[in-house]
Amino acid sequence: MAKFLQISSSLLTLLVLLTSTAISFSPIAAAAKPKSHDGFSRRLSPATLRLKKEKLSHLRFYFHDIVSGPNPTAVQIVRAPPTANLSSTGFGMLAMIDDPLTAGPKPTSKLVGRAQGIYGSASLNDVGLLMALNFAFVEGKFNGSTLSVMGRNAVMSPVREMPVIGGSGVFRFARGYAQARTRTFNPRTGDAVVEYNVYVFHY
Ligand SMILES: *[C@@H]1O[C@H](CO)[C@@H](O)[C@H](O)[C@H]1NC(C)=O
Ligand SMILES: *[C@@H]1O[C@H](CO)[C@@H](O)[C@H](O)[C@H]1NC(C)=O
Repeated sequence: MAKFLQISSSLLTLLVLLTSTAISFSPIAAAAKPKSHDGFSRRLSPATLRLKKEKLSHLRFYFHDIVSGPNPTAVQIVRAPPTANLSSTGFGMLAMIDDPLTAGPKPTSKLVGRAQGIYGSASLNDVGLLMALNFAFVEGKFNGSTLSVMGRNAVMSPVREMPVIGGSGVFRFARGYAQARTRTFNPRTGDAVVEYNVYVFHY
C-alpha cells in the first residue's frame, strides 16, 4: 500500500511537471498578451501572422463511400423511428463516415486524405443530405491540413455544390466551395465513388 502510494505520488509529481511544462511552452502562453481595454482582445496586422498573398487552389480527388462488406467506411448511427422507415427520402437518418479520398477514381489509387464527419438525411421531399465533414489530407504539402465542409448535398443531382467554411494548417482562413459529382453508384450495395473538385482561397 505504502509502495503504491509512493508510486502514485511520484506519478502525480510527473503529471504536475508535464502539465506545467505544457502550459509554459504552449503558443498561447508564449504569445503577447492583448493590450486592449477589455484585457482579452487586440487588433493585429496580418503581417504578425506572416500572412502574405492569398492563394487560390483547386483540388480534385475521389471520395469512396463504402457502406457494404466487412469494412464499411460509412455507418448508419441513427435512423429516427418512425420517420426514417416511413419516409421515401430516409428523413432522420444520420451516418458517421471516415471515407478514403484518392487521387484517381479507383479505390487502389493513391490515398490523399480522408473525409471524416457526419451526413444526415435532412430533406422530407427529396434526397438531400446535410454534410458536416472535415477533409483531412495526408499527402504532400497538404499533409496534416484540413478543410471543413458544411452544406446541402442533393445526391441525385449531377453536380452538388457545398461551401468550404474553413480549414487548418496550410488551409488557415480557407473559404471556397466543393463540387461533387457521383462517378459510380452500385444500387445493390449502396457503395459510391464521388468526384470532388474543391476551389479554395487560403494563405
Ligand atoms: C418503422 O420502424 C419502427 C421501429 O423499427 C417500427 O416499430 C415500425 O413498425 C416501422 N414502421 C413501418 C411502417 O415499417
Ligand atoms: C504525413 O505526416 C505524418 C505525420 O507528420 C507522417 O508520419 C507521414 O509520413 C506524412 N506522409 C507523407 C506522405 O508525407
